[in-house]
Amino acid sequence: MGGALPPQEKLLAETFDLVFKGGTVVNHAGEGLADIGVRDGRIAEIGAIGEGMAGETIDATGLHILPGVIDSQVHFREPGLEHKEDLASGSRSAVLGGVTAVFEMPNTKPPTTSAEALAAKVKAGTGRMHCDFAFFVGATHDNVGDLAELERQPGAAGVKVFLGSSTGDLLVDDEATLKRILGAIKRRAAFHAEDEARLKERIPLQRAGDPSSHSEWRDPQAALAATERLLRLAAEAGKRVHVLHVSTAEEMALLALHKDIASVEVTPQHLTLATPEAYEALGTKAQMNPPLRDRTHQERLWWGIERRVVDVLGSDHAPHTLEEKAKRYPATPSGMPGVQTLVPVMLDHVNAGRLSLARFVDLTSAGPQRVFGIRGKGRIAVGYDADLTIVDLKAERAIEDAWIASKCGWTPFAGRRVRGWPAGTVVRGRLAMWEGELGEAGGKPVRFGEAPPAANAPY
Ligand code: DOR
Repeated sequence: MGGALPPQEKLLAETFDLVFKGGTVVNHAGEGLADIGVRDGRIAEIGAIGEGMAGETIDATGLHILPGVIDSQVHFREPGLEHKEDLASGSRSAVLGGVTAVFEMPNTKPPTTSAEALAAKVKAGTGRMHCDFAFFVGATHDNVGDLAELERQPGAAGVKVFLGSSTGDLLVDDEATLKRILGAIKRRAAFHAEDEARLKERIPLQRAGDPSSHSEWRDPQAALAATERLLRLAAEAGKRVHVLHVSTAEEMALLALHKDIASVEVTPQHLTLATPEAYEALGTKAQMNPPLRDRTHQERLWWGIERRVVDVLGSDHAPHTLEEKAKRYPATPSGMPGVQTLVPVMLDHVNAGRLSLARFVDLTSAGPQRVFGIRGKGRIAVGYDADLTIVDLKAERAIEDAWIASKCGWTPFAGRRVRGWPAGTVVRGRLAMWEGELGEAGGKPVRFGEAPPAANAPY
């Protein structure tokens, strides 16, 4: 089939492999009752579809059909840290939570900093992951010369830079290297913005056994200083950047003035959990980078959601085992799982009136498509991949550790009752999850507009 277009008869034939009937379809541009016909993994019809037109028909009455949720920040730990997670377990957690594609971070062991490491991840994920995927390439002092080529490789989500150290060894904080990176690449790179010099200086503020001191050590000024520097360097280089997990009021106000340069991510946990209560309730499970903040910061993040400053939601799924989290702070690792809880936690906010369903859709599908230049995903449209997140907005459930398929086996949201739950996850027309049951794994790399199509792409 290499290079051939589908035969004309097939395009015209009004039969489908799969039809979702009677659901409320919510798109970037509105919502309404419609059936969706899927053929060869793509959306082939949106509208009224008669009986007997499909190999399989699924009754979606009472459910909302959203474009597949794309989580553009997860850590799945393979290779090297598989006791915390691997690509298969992380992807099972994703599809059980309604997520159809993930972008995975490079701080594995070894890190994803070479063409070989990237190709190995793509190979390891293909057909083994339950959702589609792309991998960020980590920038180091040594691979700057390769980044322009690496960011164009199949399966690459772009370049990721840690401006401040977090889990793993990836870090680039000197101005000369940052300038070289921004000068070398074409795509929008993603940044962890915390200022390394300030973090080092403030280490004495860590209090042994008191994880709440994590938020004092890695203070709002550390985040703001890094984001200010990033905006200046990006403007000088004439490049666009993506600021991951924005956590402070000051950064949100600043980023609102620089939307021509920077796209913005926030996490469900920064929108939902706040200090000091989170540390009191969760202890070291609440420890992450950048840290959780107080309600004043959280309100400003919601302001950024409401004013459209925020482009995407990412879970920053960062699993660590309970044993690791049971150590004494600061020996405990930073990060919490989140890929499985992004959809229910945010749908609960939708039901509480904090954001509209349309805005949720924009943040989880059209937003990532716009920011990262994704091809064929990000909206429900004829010809697009049949990636769908089907949700029951009325379902009330409690999030529990026992539901979490991540190897870490816990969630900071355990015990939380939410309204709104993922009922089905459809990846290129396959039922990756239906009513809590997993389907077969069949994940493939996400394709991007700025990278050349893979040599064996069908067309
Ligand atoms: O809390 C975090 N954990 N923040 C990061 O930037 C990395 C992550 C991890 O990989 O554990």
